Parts: sequence; structure tokens; C-alpha cells
Amino acid sequence: MAKITIAIDGYSSTGKSTIAKQLAKALGYVYVDTGAMYRAVTLFAMRNGFIGGQNDNIGALVKLLPRIKLKFVYNETLGYAEIYLNGENVEREIRTLEVSKYVSRIAEVEEVRHMLVDIQKDMGMEKGIVMDGRDIGTVVFPNAELKIFMTASPEKRAYRRYKELLDKKEEVTYEDVLANVENRDRIDSNREFSPLKRADDAILFDNSDMGLKEQFERMYNHALRII
Ligand code: C5P
Repeated sequence: MAKITIAIDGYSSTGKSTIAKQLAKALGYVYVDTGAMYRAVTLFAMRNGFIGGQNDNIGALVKLLPRIKLKFVYNETLGYAEIYLNGENVEREIRTLEVSKYVSRIAEVEEVRHMLVDIQKDMGMEKGIVMDGRDIGTVVFPNAELKIFMTASPEKRAYRRYKELLDKKEEVTYEDVLANVENRDRIDSNREFSPLKRADDAILFDNSDMGLKEQFERMYNHALRII
């Protein structure tokens, strides 16, 4: 069977990663969560006081970008790769609402995007990859054989994310999560460099009223039609 590239883009908390992971597993493909890369750079910026304090210092972050080393390491038990920032597993820390608050501002920075897009393109050289994010079908892999654009109502997305954070014992309110989801979508859709938008040839996938099983089956069938 020919290996293809699958690009999954869409709004925040549409469940892209859950479905992308399942699809990669079923096809024997590599799964890459590009949001984790933007989140890890954001964590680095927060730890160094470049964002999240009184004044942002994006210039200082840009200067230190060459010192950021990101790596994905496959975790057998979990069944997917976890992200490492300069040798440290930051998978848990990057998922907090605190990091979510700043990530879209870091993702607007042209130099950050260039650095991460280059790494992502390298990862996809050999195909057999499912990558999710915001600009995968438009910028990273414009020639991907299968492109999906996921969406769902903001309330449904916020509720799913809220439950996920509660499960992880984070103290959050539904209102805060909804505000964060809407704010990120606004920044992501309006930024100058590679904004979030549906590629002309992407399949629109609204999962507001769809369970996981149905989502997986539909996606898997889309992939089988091409492979
Ligand atoms: O996918 P996730 O919600 O974890 O992504 C976090 C943030 O990273 C997004 O809200 C967006 O600002 C940024 N991002 C991006 N381009 C990507 C992936 C994520 O700008 N390809």
C-alpha cells in the first residue's frame, strides 16, 4: 500500500489529536502533534520570563530560539510520542490552561513559525504520517493526499476541554475555558503568518454531534479511498 501524508487542521479543542492518533495507529503511521511544539516553545518563553509577566520580550525569545531543542519520544505504554524540551519531558506541563493562554501569541511570531515548520517538513519527508495543527494542509504539506479541516461549536469544544482539564485535576471554570478557546481561534485565524484557514481541497469535518467511533470510521474510510 502506498504511504500518504494526512493533514488534520482545525479549531482549538475539536479533538484533532484524539482522532489523528487513532488513525495513525490503524494505518501504522507516525503521528505528530504540532500544537505540542508551539506549546513547548511557549513554556520555554514563560520559564524565561519572556511572556506571562509584566512585559513581553519576544525579541529575547527569538534570539534564544536556536537553544530550543524539541524531540518526540515514543511512549510504549501510552501508545504515542511525548514531547521533550531540551531533554525534559514536558508533555504534562504544556497542556495547562496557563500555557494555553499564551500559546497563540507565541505562535504568531514569524521566526517561531519558520523554525517549527522546517522541523515539521523534515518529519514528513518519508510520508506515512498524520500531522495535526492549524497550517498543515496550507503551509507544511500543501500537497498532502488527504486534508481534513475539523470544526465544532465553541461550546461543545470548550466543554470537552473543560472536562479533560478537570480529569487532570486542574482548577478551571467552564467560562475560562470557553474564553480561552474563542480567544485562541480569533488570534489563530487573524494572524499575519499562516493563519488558521481551511485549505481549498480540505474535507470539512464538523464533529459537534459525532461520537469518537463514528469520527474514526469516517476518517479511516477517507484514508482507505486514497491508499
Ligand atoms: O493544537 P493545540 O490546541 O495544542 O495548539 C495550541 C496552539 O498552538 C494553537 O492555539 C495555535 O495558536 C498554535 N498552533 C499553530 N499552528 C499549528 C499548531 C498549533 O499556530 N500548526
